[in-house]
Amino acid sequence: MVNARKQFESGTVWPDDTGTHINAHGGGILVDEGVFYWFGEHKIAGEAGNVAHVGVHCYSSTDLYNWKDAGIALSVSEDPTSEIADGCILERPKVIYNATTSRFVMWFHLEFKGQGYNTSRVGVAVADRPTGPYTFLHSFRPNAGHWPINVAAEERNAIYDTKLMTEMRASQGGGPDPSVVRFPFWVRDFANGQMSRDMTLFEDDDGTAYHICASEQNSTLHISQLTDDYLCTTGKYARVFNKRWHEAPAVCKHNGRYWMISSDCTGWAPNAARSSVADSIWGPWRELGNPTEGINPDNGIGPEKTFGGQSTYILAVPGKADALIAMFDLWRPENAIDGRYLWLPMRFEDNKPTITWRSEWDLSVFDDGDE
Ligand code: DGJ
Repeated sequence: MVNARKQFESGTVWPDDTGTHINAHGGGILVDEGVFYWFGEHKIAGEAGNVAHVGVHCYSSTDLYNWKDAGIALSVSEDPTSEIADGCILERPKVIYNATTSRFVMWFHLEFKGQGYNTSRVGVAVADRPTGPYTFLHSFRPNAGHWPINVAAEERNAIYDTKLMTEMRASQGGGPDPSVVRFPFWVRDFANGQMSRDMTLFEDDDGTAYHICASEQNSTLHISQLTDDYLCTTGKYARVFNKRWHEAPAVCKHNGRYWMISSDCTGWAPNAARSSVADSIWGPWRELGNPTEGINPDNGIGPEKTFGGQSTYILAVPGKADALIAMFDLWRPENAIDGRYLWLPMRFEDNKPTITWRSEWDLSVFDDGDE
């Protein structure tokens, strides 16, 4: 191990065991048999790195500070007709273990090559070992042919208007756009499946797993229950944060409630983080405001733009009570490979999450008993 680390060093180059900056952007962590596995987007240098040319990179660790390069867990395909062809967009991979099938299941946001962000699908890949190699299984738009559980039947029927449907097909709103607010995209996409962009997975205590994604042109999040084998959505889903343009969702459970950290919707540019809470994964979700505080001295950015970062995952550290780490990416779209990572402790004060800037810290912060 090159220069073993004993702490997290926010926003700095984070070398792996070979001395190379970790290449796992938009990532998440799997914990399996006492080992942590970090999966993320492998990015290449320059702007070319904003689409996928390599695949999903995996690293392993036993202490969270020092990471061993475990190689490419899922490779993009050299076959240009593949759904995961070199040049596709493959973002925010997350892996969970399915106890029923004894397989590791990876979900990711997939856009077919050359189609911008318009295909808006999820991809699913499986492996017998945590580090892979993962085999690409399929991609789809979730919940085709199913209505959301939190919309009354009368509302679906009232809203289905042919003229509106035709107007919506021409609409390409990707960020907060008042002109798309009146469009019921979830009705438009009933038959062929709901749009799915930024995403995460969340596995509840009872083993039920959920996919949470930015849908409806990014305007509204969808939460979907996965099938028992974690390979598909079941058709049970809810629309949440209607027309609030949340991206980058990350979910955890704390004191029996569900907590979400997410962002506003401004492309690769940072914006103010958001936090929310719900008693049920299905909602209602209540927004609690920006959970961040402090300043990143490297770029002078504070809560107004989340220290320059965007959320990607919340890790519950096993074996430590209420030890939650909020993970963020500091994107570098002009040289994607140089994107940095920001992991910070997530605390709860006055029943709200708080994420305070720290330049350096270690897991002992969770031992001080003031949680
Ligand atoms: C914001 C998303 O959170 C990222 O994952 C990525 O899709 C960028 N938008 C692309 O602009």
